[in-house]
Amino acid sequence: MRHFLSERDLTADEFRSIVNRGSEFRRMWEANEPHALFPNSTVAMIFDMSSTRTRLSFEAGITQLGGKAINLSRSETQMGRGESIEDTARVLSQMVDLVLMRTASHESIEQFASMCTVPVMNGLTDLLHPCQMLADMQAYFDHRGDIKDKTVAWIGDGNNVCNSYINIADLLGFKLRIACPVEFQPDSNVLERGKSNTTVMQDVTAACEGADLVVTDVWSSMGKEDEQEQRKRAFADYCVTSELMALAAEDALFMHCLPAHRGEEVTAEVIDGPQSVVWEEAGNRMHAQKALMEFLLNNR
Ligand code: CP
Ligand code: NVA
Repeated sequence: MRHFLSERDLTADEFRSIVNRGSEFRRMWEANEPHALFPNSTVAMIFDMSSTRTRLSFEAGITQLGGKAINLSRSETQMGRGESIEDTARVLSQMVDLVLMRTASHESIEQFASMCTVPVMNGLTDLLHPCQMLADMQAYFDHRGDIKDKTVAWIGDGNNVCNSYINIADLLGFKLRIACPVEFQPDSNVLERGKSNTTVMQDVTAACEGADLVVTDVWSSMGKEDEQEQRKRAFADYCVTSELMALAAEDALFMHCLPAHRGEEVTAEVIDGPQSVVWEEAGNRMHAQKALMEFLLNNR
């Protein structure tokens, strides 16, 4: 039985095969080919924080696989009244086939998974956003082929999505240049483990020079709302503009996990421009996660 709490829970071959299977699911969905491979499977989804894409993509995805999703927010369950994560995990394990969890602290999902006898999937924590990486790589592979030996520029906050990029740079063998303010660097443990493929700098132009993929995310992630004003000042020079994109490779792609703030981390011209694949990236969430669920269900 396998969990998917971090990109590093998969081998590089497994990661690539899930990404490729995601592309196949997308093609089947576009051709209206049914793929209800897991009738009667149930996914419990626990959301401690807001979500549009993650919730919708898992719910629609398991429906297409022939199963069903049950949404549980902490406040509506006994967890909101103090029932422990461990006890909840034991109960859920008796009733559902998979659990998806979005929670502020990465330790909570690890604690939950340690007591859960069905696969647990990470739908974002303060540390990582691994499902997003499957969708991003599906978009990259579909447009440009394998990302091995390519260069990716990350512009902005060293946040959960950035940490996940460090993990997959190591796993899939690409170079990652992160441009971020010194006080908003990625997690030091993640960085230490991924240091052979990742360089951190403050110069956005040096990070973008010749890059094959340029990625950014919001300046203030969920849970950082009270730092918004300080962050706006610190990140003022960390905006992906057309001038910055012009420094990247001619065929460079632009990605953003969304939701986006036009005029902050990216200009409207870039996110709504020809190099941006953000809508396909978002749509891929559903197909990549169907491939993930298939992998986890088959490995029970
Ligand atoms: N990208 C992403 O995870 O979006 P949501 O917060 O809407 O789920
Ligand atoms: N870094 C963002 C990603 C949202 C999908 C956040 O954690 O809010």
